[in-house]
Amino acid sequence: MSESSKSEGVLTEIDHVAIAVNDLDAAVTYYQDTFGCEVAHREVVERDGVEEVLLKVADSYVQLLTPIRDDSPVAKYLEKKGEGIHHVGYRVADCATALDRVKAQGHKVIDEAPRPGSRGTTVAFVHPKTAYGTLIELVEE
Ligand code: CO
Repeated sequence: MSESSKSEGVLTEIDHVAIAVNDLDAAVTYYQDTFGCEVAHREVVERDGVEEVLLKVADSYVQLLTPIRDDSPVAKYLEKKGEGIHHVGYRVADCATALDRVKAQGHKVIDEAPRPGSRGTTVAFVHPKTAYGTLIELVEE
């Protein structure tokens, strides 16, 4: 299949599965002790009001996410739904192109344009409302 083919998939890999937790250190310890996972990265993402830890699983990550402020979207999520899967991050070669494709299909997005994510990535979130109840993050490394 040619690279310009419209039917070619834009999601190249699962980048991470993000899990919202109340106690980040306790959740990290759980993954380390129970599954032998290694911490690959830890970062406070001020703009999103979260602290995250990435645990490596093959070429993907489990991302543990906790709010650092009461007005963080993750704080609201925990309050409303409790701990659990918050979003799925898919790797894409080009975040802007992938996001444009979502919008061109008439689907709702949270980010109108790509923006900086953690680890120096470029990301954009797709709204769960028109994505079958899943908050989707497009991740360009
Ligand atoms: Co994410």
